[in-house]
Amino acid sequence: MQYSEKVMDHFAHPRNVGEIEDASGVGTVGNPTCGDIMKMYLKIENDIIVDVKFKTFGCGAAIATSSMATELIKGKSVSEALELTNKAVVEALDGLPAIKIHCSVLAEEAVRAALADYYRKIGREIDFEVPEQEEEACHIVPEEE
Ligand code: FES
Repeated sequence: MQYSEKVMDHFAHPRNVGEIEDASGVGTVGNPTCGDIMKMYLKIENDIIVDVKFKTFGCGAAIATSSMATELIKGKSVSEALELTNKAVVEALDGLPAIKIHCSVLAEEAVRAALADYYRKIGREIDFEVPEQEEEACHIVPEEE
């Protein structure tokens, strides 16, 4: 399978990995087929995404696309982030193999899920499609025995 240099770079050196303790919105999405999970944290001030972090338990393309998605929305307004599509993420990574496109969908959904959580928290009506949320993903950070 051919991966672009950008995909390999974001896979090997993912940007914005981690979590935000006092996040304005958190979203967790998963793909039931492959079992991969993505969790996105947003810090939003005056409707601008001032910080974003993610954790992905998944394949290399899922890690690269979530990393790129965080780069694309950082510093953007909430409405701009809502316009982020998986296609834009794939383009920014110089493409993905066809069987890996679904991984980029997870990145788009994670952003939307976190934005929906933000809307809920501030009592704003959610006027966009919200992806199904995963149960709180305890398997992202395994509990210590
Ligand atoms: Fe599941 Fe990539 S194989 S997100």
